[in-house]
Amino acid sequence: MSDLLGELAALEAELGAEIAQASDESSLEAIRVKALGQKGLITLRLRGLGQMDAEQRKIAGPALNGLRDRIGAALSAAKSVITARAQAERLAAKRIDMTLPARPYEPGTIHPVSQVTDEIIEIFAGLGFVLAEGPDIEEDRYNFTMLNFPEGHPAREMHDTFFLDANHDGERLLLRTHTSPVQVRTLLAQKPPVRVIIPGRTYRCDSDQTHTPMFHQVEGLVIDRNIHMGHLKGTLEAFARAFFEIDQVKMRMRPSHFPFTEPSMEVDIGCKRSGDEIRIGEGDDWLEILGCGMVHPNVIRNCGLDPDEWQGFAFGCGIDRLAMLKYGAPDLRAFFDGDMRWLKHYGFQVFDQPSLCGGLSR
Ligand code: DAH
Repeated sequence: MSDLLGELAALEAELGAEIAQASDESSLEAIRVKALGQKGLITLRLRGLGQMDAEQRKIAGPALNGLRDRIGAALSAAKSVITARAQAERLAAKRIDMTLPARPYEPGTIHPVSQVTDEIIEIFAGLGFVLAEGPDIEEDRYNFTMLNFPEGHPAREMHDTFFLDANHDGERLLLRTHTSPVQVRTLLAQKPPVRVIIPGRTYRCDSDQTHTPMFHQVEGLVIDRNIHMGHLKGTLEAFARAFFEIDQVKMRMRPSHFPFTEPSMEVDIGCKRSGDEIRIGEGDDWLEILGCGMVHPNVIRNCGLDPDEWQGFAFGCGIDRLAMLKYGAPDLRAFFDGDMRWLKHYGFQVFDQPSLCGGLSR
């Protein structure tokens, strides 16, 4: 009998060592079959209990049953360790970073109008101007009347205004035809001295290769004591040099007419044309870039200020046109088509913020 017990102890040690060494489920299964399968070492011995006499069975029975249970338990413990390890490995191999974008993402670009607007703001901020804005839907008095457009004046018709339906007071609001109404809004809200730069969307009922019903303008306004045309000219020259990123820009002023300025001028810059291409800063041709003038005394008076005490200058120009000129996009309508190929070609990198020290367009 002690032979059998010694044999079982050796068998248990052997199986235990094999179980401890098994590294995957199939080798564990092989050990299970070898020990507990139909012809397994423990199974066959259990079957042999029937041939033993009662005395022997009393000792061998519990010993064999105990061995079977311990080996069974060791196998299932080893199996759960191995399956847990295998699952951890599978999960590690399938690991996904949930913070990544769902699709391989196409970085967007900054629209040339946004880029040029930022460039202009940056230049004028460097000259001490602050940003001002106003609503796209405007009152007639701010868009026209207070800017010295008399009722029935032909200049009103020239603006091809989009009017909204009359409201319950019979008043017809409109989509602002220029950024100039923000001059009036600023002067009503702030005491001079005032130095503001006003970019924004503007609207006129017009559409062809160089006109779209919605477009962008930027307006500048300076009101202070003793402001004269020299300040206007110097400011515009500083702007043109910084914006076109060239040391010398030829500039000329031609007399013009706007109801809200007196005198009024249009400003041309020197350029060279060859075919469709326009080069700024060289050649003998001229290109009109903006309208400007000394703020009309009536506008200053309409805003509750004394024109004998306060004077100033103003200017306005099309941002889209400046963007076309600087970055060589030929058709204005394409600016507002939202075509991804166009945006990829003409757009700017998201992190290329224009700055005077870092360079505007680089
Ligand atoms: N508001 C004018 C326009 O849309 C542009 C303009 C001209 C603005 C002269 C000004 C200015 O401030 O002084 O055509």
